[in-house]
Amino acid sequence: MHKFLTNAAVLEHELSELRLVVERQTGVLLDAPSEDLAQVVTQYLEAQHLASTSDLLELLRSSESAYENLVEPLLDAETRFFRYPAAFDSLTKVALPEILARKSSESPRTLRFWSAGCSTGEEPYSIAISVCETVNCSGGGWNVHIVASDIRRKPLELAERGLYEESALAQVPSHLVQQYFVKVGQHFMVKPRVRNLVRFAPMNLARPVYIGRFDCIFCMDVLPHFSMSQRMALVQRLHCYLQPGGYLFLGQGEKLPAVGVTFNWQKNGDYIVYQKPMAAAAGQGR
Ligand SMILES: C[S@@+](CC[C@H](N)C(=O)[O-])C[C@H]1O[C@@H](n2cnc3c(N)ncnc32)[C@H](O)[C@@H]1O
Repeated sequence: MHKFLTNAAVLEHELSELRLVVERQTGVLLDAPSEDLAQVVTQYLEAQHLASTSDLLELLRSSESAYENLVEPLLDAETRFFRYPAAFDSLTKVALPEILARKSSESPRTLRFWSAGCSTGEEPYSIAISVCETVNCSGGGWNVHIVASDIRRKPLELAERGLYEESALAQVPSHLVQQYFVKVGQHFMVKPRVRNLVRFAPMNLARPVYIGRFDCIFCMDVLPHFSMSQRMALVQRLHCYLQPGGYLFLGQGEKLPAVGVTFNWQKNGDYIVYQKPMAAAAGQGR
C-alpha cells in the first residue's frame, strides 16, 4: 500500500532542486508558484507510487523520459493555426521569394523547414500550407521537407493524426480550409498532400542534435520559457542549424538574446524576421 502525501510533504528546497533538474534537462524554467508545483508533484508521486520527493528527484536524474509526464501540466502548450499571421506573411512575402530565387538553379531543388516546439502540429501544418500556396509542392520541381519536433510525445501523436476540431480552424481563411482540409464527422483532417510534407519527431531542444541544415526554422514561443543560459545556448544552435541565408521565425514580439552569432533582421510590419548572413562567418552582435 502506498503512502499518500499532502502538499505540505513537498518541501520548498525539494521544489528548488526539482526546478534545477527540469531546467537542466529541458531548458524550461518552472516559474509556476510553489503551491501549484507542489500540487503537481503530489499528484505525480501518487500516480507513480513514489514515497517521497527524493525518490522522484532520483528518478528524474536517471530517466530521460520520466520528467515528461511530470512537467506536462506545467508547460505552456498554447498553439493555433497561423498563430502569428505576420510571421506567415513574412514567410510567403519575404523569406520564400528570396530563397526560391537564390536556389532556383540548384539540382535537386530542396526546401527544408523545422518547426521546433511544434506542440499539436498547427504550426508545421500552417508552414506546409503557406509553402504550398507559394510553391507547387506536388509538381513544381521542389522537394519540400518539414521536420516538426516537440519534447512531449502525446501532442506529437495528435499532430501526426492531423485531426482538428472546427474551433481550431477559426483563424484559417475559408478558401484554405476548403483546399487543405477534409471534413471527417465533426472534425477536420489535414489532407494527405500536406500531411506527407511533415515528419514529426520527439526532440529535446535543450540537447544538441544534428538533423541537417534548414532554410527556415520556426521556434515560436519556446525561448521565453527557457532560462537565460539555455536560451542563449539554443539560439547559438539554431544559428548553426540554419543554412547561410536561412531565416529564423520567433513569436511576435520575441527578441533574440545577444549571443556571439550574427543575425541580420528585417521588419515586415510589426514582425521581425531574422536571417543568418550568407557569408556565415561567426561574428559578434546582430
Ligand atoms: C507555447 S508552445 C508553442 C507552440 C508553437 N511553437 C506555437 O507558437 O504555436 C511551446 C512548445 O514548446 C515545447 N517545448 C518546451 N520545452 C521544450 C524542449 N526542451 N524541447 C522541445 N520542445 C519543448 C512545449 O512542449 C510546447 O509544445
